Amino acid sequence: MKIGFIGLGIMGSRMATNLQKKGHELVVYNRSKEKTEPLIAQGAVRAQTPADLARQVKIVITMLSKPDAVAETALLDKNGFLGSLAPQSLWIDCSTVNPSFSKLMAMEAKQRKVRFIDAPVAGSRGPAEQGQLLFFVGGEKADVEEARPLFEAMGKAVFHMGGHGMGTSMKMVNNIILAQAMVAFSEAIVLGESLGISKDQLFTTLLASPVVAPFLAFKRPMIEAGKFDPEFPLQWMHKDLQLAAETAYETGVPLPLANATKELYALAVKNGLGEMDFSAIYKFLSTGK
Ligand SMILES: NC(=O)c1ccc[n+]([C@@H]2O[C@H](COP(=O)([O-])OP(=O)(O)OC[C@H]3O[C@@H](n4cnc5c(N)ncnc54)[C@H](OP(=O)(O)O)[C@@H]3O)[C@@H](O)[C@H]2O)c1
Repeated sequence: MKIGFIGLGIMGSRMATNLQKKGHELVVYNRSKEKTEPLIAQGAVRAQTPADLARQVKIVITMLSKPDAVAETALLDKNGFLGSLAPQSLWIDCSTVNPSFSKLMAMEAKQRKVRFIDAPVAGSRGPAEQGQLLFFVGGEKADVEEARPLFEAMGKAVFHMGGHGMGTSMKMVNNIILAQAMVAFSEAIVLGESLGISKDQLFTTLLASPVVAPFLAFKRPMIEAGKFDPEFPLQWMHKDLQLAAETAYETGVPLPLANATKELYALAVKNGLGEMDFSAIYKFLSTGK
């Protein structure tokens, strides 16, 4: 199948590579052109603009940082892709955005006779590379079934949650747990160290107990080495908490702990940790910078 892929950051580059490995023909676009090069070397075609990409394909996948980036790339910029897609084309947005934004994009797509699926992912750099992502999907059943082989090329499970915006709804739920689990664990480790327990003992003991989330095992090497190369950039976790707060406002639900957690990530971003992995929240709690 010929697929347009827009957004070749940490996640998108690996997801596109898996599609390419499964034999799909790719047309790619990334704001910073150099990130297209590894895919071009393997046979992908580089589009000059998102609109140029849209004229060459009937399926577009986007994996962009945040709602503004998606809106700009799809329709606000004069070279946005949405207006150049043929009727009945399918747009699959894998970016983590808020549900009301997904519903708005579905409407904008519909006005141009384009079908839309929101399909954010769970799983970080490693699962993206290994084709082990989870997809939380919102959209029409027939569209989801059409996209299923693509999800299966990039991931290990597809959860069809309902109509437009329900994939990103599930993602909001998922990420407020992830953000808070990272902070709760980091705070506990900092206390443990202050009591004279080594990091090694803390990790070994806690990871053997049911009180900690399994993903924390993957963060152990980073925290032990004090090196936080980004798998999931901290600034995007802050963004996700902001989007969850906006979503909760819309549905009238208080999120006292998630909002306190959000402000902690905001302080870490302000202190220059935004481009590090979100586990650098441990460093922030431990050193105050
Ligand atoms: N990393 C993870 O573990 C993970 C896991 C699940 C979900 N996510 C979500 O997946 C999405 C991508 O994350 P990532 O980690 O791959 O981030 P990333 O490495 O920072 O990549 C972001 C992508 O968005 C593009 N972009 C940003 N602003 C743009 C704009 N105004 N116009 C056009 N393109 C723009 C970037 O282009 P440039 O290359 O030009 O900057 C890049 O291609 C985010 O929504 C994130 O929350 C990430």
